[in-house]
Amino acid sequence: MKKYKRAITYGTFDLFHIGHVRLLQRISDLAEEVYVAVSSDEFNNLKNKVCIIPFEERIEIVKAIGCVTKVLKEETWEQKVSDIQDNNCDLFVMGNDWEGKFDFLKEYCDVIYLPRTAGVSTTKIKENVKR
Ligand code: CTP
Repeated sequence: MKKYKRAITYGTFDLFHIGHVRLLQRISDLAEEVYVAVSSDEFNNLKNKVCIIPFEERIEIVKAIGCVTKVLKEETWEQKVSDIQDNNCDLFVMGNDWEGKFDFLKEYCDVIYLPRTAGVSTTKIKENVKR
């Protein structure tokens, strides 16, 4: 029996890499179900982030990961509270690059920041490919 019933996490998941896999697996160790909200291309543009892999493909990739129960679309900064409530999530998880940033969600469910996998990121992959 896992501690949580349904966890939710958010991210872009561009150029899907080992850090992404390990984060999702660690969430799955904590919760029976793992919901992942994947940032839309429009939302990324708003954050000045340009994706290599289009949204439809990024959700297909995340969906294909065995421990992922459901994939949602992330379109705004504000949707987290309603996502947590509408989907009855009892855990919100982010990598610890976001440490403390979402503590306001503790009003709605537990909030955990998991350690990132060292040495890998989408940004780093993009830089390596450019060289
Ligand atoms: N993540 C992780 N370990 C890594 C990279 C990412 O645990 N080495 C986690 C992030 O903390 C986040 C989720 O994976 O909770 C999605 O991260 P995302 O921003 O899509 O990946 P990054 O590789 O960090 O992308 P970027 O370099 O564009 O910021």
